[in-house]
Amino acid sequence: MLSQIASVLGVILLAVLAIPLSTHLRLSGVYPPRNATKPVSPKLSTTRCATVADNLNIACETLATNPQFGVAYLACENPLSRSRYNPGFHAVDPAFSGHGAVYSMNLKNNKVSKLDIPNLPVNLSILGLDFYVKDATTAIINVINHHPTGARIETLSHKKGSTTLDFVDSVESKSLFNWPNSIATMPDGSFYVTSGLVGKTLAAKIAETMLPLPWGSILYYNAATQKTRVVAKDIQFSNGIAKSPNNEFIYAAGSTSGALHVYKVIDPETGALKLVEKVALDFYLDNVSVHPRTGAVYVTGHSNGPRFLMAMANPTVYARSSGSLVAKVVNNTGEDVFYGHKYKSSLVFVGDDPLFATASHVVVAPDFKKTIFGSLFSKGVVVCDWEL
Ligand SMILES: *[C@@H]1O[C@H](CO)[C@@H](O)[C@H](O)[C@H]1NC(C)=O
Ligand SMILES: *[C@@H]1O[C@H](CO)[C@@H](O)[C@H](O)[C@H]1NC(C)=O
Ligand SMILES: *[C@@H]1O[C@H](CO)[C@@H](O)[C@H](O)[C@H]1NC(C)=O
Ligand SMILES: *[C@@H]1O[C@H](CO)[C@@H](O)[C@H](O)[C@H]1NC(C)=O
Repeated sequence: MLSQIASVLGVILLAVLAIPLSTHLRLSGVYPPRNATKPVSPKLSTTRCATVADNLNIACETLATNPQFGVAYLACENPLSRSRYNPGFHAVDPAFSGHGAVYSMNLKNNKVSKLDIPNLPVNLSILGLDFYVKDATTAIINVINHHPTGARIETLSHKKGSTTLDFVDSVESKSLFNWPNSIATMPDGSFYVTSGLVGKTLAAKIAETMLPLPWGSILYYNAATQKTRVVAKDIQFSNGIAKSPNNEFIYAAGSTSGALHVYKVIDPETGALKLVEKVALDFYLDNVSVHPRTGAVYVTGHSNGPRFLMAMANPTVYARSSGSLVAKVVNNTGEDVFYGHKYKSSLVFVGDDPLFATASHVVVAPDFKKTIFGSLFSKGVVVCDWEL
C-alpha cells in the first residue's frame, strides 16, 4: 500500500517537475544545445580586453556610465563578503556586511578611484546602482543597500570630478523592499526597483528558483509623494532593470524564465507600467543596460546554471568556470513585426574565457569606444576597446 502511494506520489512529482526540468535544461544550454560557442564576431577578440583595478580586491556587480562626466560608476563589494553576506541568496552573516562602496572609473584612462561617502549614516552592503544627471556638474545616484537591519535605497549626490559623494536621503521600507535587487532612477528622482528572490526561508528561495515561481515584482517610489507601490508582478526572479534613453520604457529581467520583460511607462505620476512583450532570450538573465544613443538593450546572463550555482556556493574553486552571455534586444523593423513581434534579439557575446567568468553586467560607452564587464566574483572590471 505504502509503496503504491509512494509510486503515485513519485509520478505526480515527476509530472510536476517535468516542465521546470525542461526549462532549466533549455536555459542552461544543455538541451537543446546552444549553437554559438565563440564571440560572434572576430572583432570582439578577448585580446583587446583587460582587467582593471584587480589590485583593489573588489568585484563589481553593477555598472553605470555617465559619459557627461567622463566616468563609469561601479558598485563593488569584496568578493568574500559578497559570498557570505547576500540576503537575496540567504547568505546573512552580518559580520560580512558593510564592505561595499561606489567607485568611479575614468572612461579615458580607465583609472579607478573609490568615492568616499563621509556623511553616510550606516555602512554599505551594495547591490544595484543607477543615477540621473541633475545639472551640468551634479549627478544624483541611487544605490541599493542591503543593511542587516533592513534594506535601504540611499540617495547620493556627485559633483563632476569629485572623489566624494554626499549623502542626501534614504528610503527604507521593510515590507516592500526586502530584498531589492536592481534600480532604475528617473529624472525627477523617482525610481523603479526589482524585488526578488523574495522567499523568506532557504527552502522557499530554492523552490522559487527551481520551480520557478513568479513571486518577483517591480516597485515604484514616487519622489514627490514619497510613496511606494507595486507596479508589475508575476516575474520569475525579478533581477536587472533599466530605462530607455527617453524614460518611456522599462526593461526588466525574469532571471529564471529567461525572458526580458518590456514595459511602457503609461503614467509617470503613479509609475504605472503596461507589459508590451516578453522577449525570450533562453538563458539565465542577470543585469540589463541600455545603449545611450541607439536604445538597444543589453542583457547579461549566465550560460550554465549548475556551474553558476557552484560558483555562488564556492567562488574560490568554481567562479572561473562559470561562463557568461550577452544578448542584444532591438526594435523589430522586419516584416514579422505585424505578427506581434515588436522586438528582435540576438546573442552577441559568449564569454567562455575566464576573463568573463560570472559576468553579471555589461555597459557600453560609445563616445569612448569601450565595453565594460562587471561580475560577481572576478576581481576588478574588464574593459574592452570595442563597442558591443
Ligand atoms: C541552432 O541552429 C539550428 C540551425 O541553424 C537552428 O535550427 C536551431 O534552432 C538553433 N538552436 C538554438 C537553441 O538556437
Ligand atoms: C555594518 O553594520 C552591521 C549592523 O549594524 C554590523 O553588524 C557590521 O559589523 C557593520 N560592518 C562594518 C564593516 O562595519
Ligand atoms: C545586477 O545583478 C545583481 C544580481 O546578480 C543585482 O543585485 C544588481 O542590482 C543588478 N544591477 C543592475 C543595475 O541591474
Ligand atoms: C524602440 O523605438 C522607440 C521609439 O523610437 C525608442 O524609444 C526605443 O528606445 C527603441 N527600443 C529599442 C529596444 O531599441
